Amino acid sequence: MGDFYLGILGSGAGGGCPQWNCRCRVCRLYWDGDKRVSSRTQSSIAVSADGEQWTLINCSPDIKQQILDNPYLHPKIGLRHSPIHSVIVTNADIDHIGGLLTLRESQAFALHMTSEVAKIINTNSIFDVLQPELVQRNILSVTESSSINGIVFTPFLVPGKVPLYLEQGEVITDQIAETTIGMSMEVGHKKIIYIPGCAVINDDILQRVEGADILLFDGTVFIDDEMQEAGVGEKTGKRMGHVQLSGKQGSLQQFSQCNIKEKIFIHINNTNPILIKGSKEQQAVHDAGWQVGFDKMQLVL
Ligand code: MLT
Ligand code: MN
Ligand code: ZN
Repeated sequence: MGDFYLGILGSGAGGGCPQWNCRCRVCRLYWDGDKRVSSRTQSSIAVSADGEQWTLINCSPDIKQQILDNPYLHPKIGLRHSPIHSVIVTNADIDHIGGLLTLRESQAFALHMTSEVAKIINTNSIFDVLQPELVQRNILSVTESSSINGIVFTPFLVPGKVPLYLEQGEVITDQIAETTIGMSMEVGHKKIIYIPGCAVINDDILQRVEGADILLFDGTVFIDDEMQEAGVGEKTGKRMGHVQLSGKQGSLQQFSQCNIKEKIFIHINNTNPILIKGSKEQQAVHDAGWQVGFDKMQLVL
């Protein structure tokens, strides 16, 4: 049975950590040179079945930095080359699609997205910089699996909302539609589940994660009103389409009975105190059997 390679390119949420303009408690520690907080780029992972050809899941505005930081993504052959074979996006948030614009310069790759995300990308002419003859746009069916380079990808719907820049009027923050997906990935019997944004942990999600080797899950906020508490914003996690870690409906509690080998938080917002080494919140995460994902983290199954 083949190997299954996973790299966390960006473990942060939109904005990364520290965020360019933020002086919340966590960001301030970083700006002040406190080693308890490390920098994090924005939300993306890379997977491969051979360690040579990689599929990115989400392509963040920090992709250039992420390529620099991860030698397995450096060009390796001839004059023009990239190990990035394909890109799948799980929603159309800026942290997940912004980096597509960096992947211009006449390089072929395949772009996979749901029909809802395709509507957004296809109607925004800035993405036409990715020449259609080189960058194939494929619609990802949410009722089927697709095999790409030896990995079987099975998308599934996850409660979420439309991207911030398309919000109009009253926003449903936990709609189950093709706007937000999670991804189950298998090589043989090895299974990784990736859910960078999730408003509510429902039974379908609990069933899908069962038996996974690795779960990478939305670690945006520890408490729902964390941005308010931090004094940097009015929005709750819920309003942003992200379930909190703590509390009865939170991810720590909800996944506590699941049979999962490794549980790792990703898409961690810069306000989240789990980013402070030694904090009581980070301790609570470790006590519950979770890891705090970090940039350049690599796992081989
Ligand atoms: C989110 O995950 O809530 C979004 O990425 C927020 C954003 O677009 O900045
Ligand atoms: Mn995000
Ligand atoms: Zn901050």
